[in-house]
Amino acid sequence: MTTASSADHPTRRDFLYVATGAVAAVGAAATVWPLVSQMNPDASTIAAGAPIEVDLTPIAEGQDIKVFWRGKPIYISHRTKKQIDEARKVPVASLPDPQSDEARVKPGHDQWLVVVGICTHLGCIPIAHEGAYDGFFCPCHGSVYDTSGRIRQGPAPTNLPVPPYTFVSDTKIQIG
Ligand code: FES
Repeated sequence: MTTASSADHPTRRDFLYVATGAVAAVGAAATVWPLVSQMNPDASTIAAGAPIEVDLTPIAEGQDIKVFWRGKPIYISHRTKKQIDEARKVPVASLPDPQSDEARVKPGHDQWLVVVGICTHLGCIPIAHEGAYDGFFCPCHGSVYDTSGRIRQGPAPTNLPVPPYTFVSDTKIQIG
């Protein structure tokens, strides 16, 4: 008659080793997680205006995205050549808030328009790719902005503001 060896059936001491190993693994994970999460700005920092980086790669020509910075919607439009040409052929002096298209984009990155998506009339959020100028249309009281985000019709007194931003590479911007 044979007796079962400890190799066949874990003894109580083996169980303690296993349990200790599991606790150590959980402890290591718990240590790593705070380190990783510390590397991201927390919600209050973001709300206070920490810069954000935006990858432009997924935005096809003719499309736009909306991101949030300091709690404000920011439109990033990848303009077509037609949209850029339309913005540039307008006599600047004829605009309610005269500003050239070139002054509203970054040199060498004419295809990218970055504006705060808050109507300068009473603060509604305009809709992109709407209105007579293929720019933005505010449904609240009918303000119409062009492909440069400049006010063209309606009660809004000024152009959509351009937030502070820089190109950190050809395909990435930092806002703020
Ligand atoms: S809030 Fe946009 S037109 Fe009045």
